[in-house]
Amino acid sequence: MKKIAVMTSGGDAPGMNAAIRAVVRSGLHYDLEVYGISYGYKGLCEGDIRKLDRYDVTRIISRGGTILGSARYPEFQERKVREKAVEKLNELGIEAVIVIGGDGTYRGAQALNEMGIKCIGLPGTIDNDISSTDYTIGFFTSLQTVVDSIDKLRDTSMSHKRCSVVEVMGRYCGDLSLYAGIAGGSEFIITPETGFDKEILINGLTSSHEIGRKHAIVVVTENMVNVHELAKEIEERTGFETRTTVLGYVQRGGDPVAFDRVLGTEMGEYAVQLLVNGKSGRAVGLKAMDYVDYDINFALNKKREIPNKRYGIIGRLK
Ligand code: F6P
Repeated sequence: MKKIAVMTSGGDAPGMNAAIRAVVRSGLHYDLEVYGISYGYKGLCEGDIRKLDRYDVTRIISRGGTILGSARYPEFQERKVREKAVEKLNELGIEAVIVIGGDGTYRGAQALNEMGIKCIGLPGTIDNDISSTDYTIGFFTSLQTVVDSIDKLRDTSMSHKRCSVVEVMGRYCGDLSLYAGIAGGSEFIITPETGFDKEILINGLTSSHEIGRKHAIVVVTENMVNVHELAKEIEERTGFETRTTVLGYVQRGGDPVAFDRVLGTEMGEYAVQLLVNGKSGRAVGLKAMDYVDYDINFALNKKREIPNKRYGIIGRLK
């Protein structure tokens, strides 16, 4: 194998640049030519591919976003579209691609792998919703952003004796909300894993208000409830004046925290090693603080482990 490529796909995540840098530097270490594919599978099909040298990745380890750009490209599910991608790679003699992204990205990699392009998947998403790894690249940076925001919201909520409803990203995974709820000392968290019982929340907030608590923070994972309507109902039924904050895309930006830089770097290097050792169709993960790799099919179908112990804590600390 002489030429490999790297790309980022799906929602960007802080730490992706660290992974790109590691793939380039370690690829060069093994005398490979390393190419960067811009804007994920879309760029791949359009042939938006360029050779990278060590200086192209200088000082990117500390930068958020992805220097390669990213995109969602559902068209890649069509075989004809994928054939175009294979053609572009063959034209340049690129035999393997390291893809960094979420489960949609992994599905693309699995399909490409079946069409003869060696693929390795790295988990890059703020959602931490990939079951083949304990943590995804980007999760801890995003978590810090959410916690910083909750800290700020607490200041103003306490000053005004208010309840703050905070909507957090995660798609259909509650990890960002859960960890942020713990680290931010929030009183209630609502996630896909806990489910949502409005009456329990309303009763809890009513009792908090009645015993004179000055404020409450309710963290809610996106896609679960309409947080604006929920806030209205809390205000009407609990006695707490209530405000809503949808944190939105700030959760995806920012310089990666040290852990995401380490994760991106070590996973990027691990991926290159897999290719050098003749492996393909693998998904890299961190399990119990050790790097592992699984068949991408297995990774895609693996059931996510729910951190039940962590969920238990919240109720006992209110
Ligand atoms: O997957 C990361 C994520 O930020 C989710 O948390 C969110 O639901 C989604 O991406 C938003 O996607 P888009 O960038 O396509 O709007």
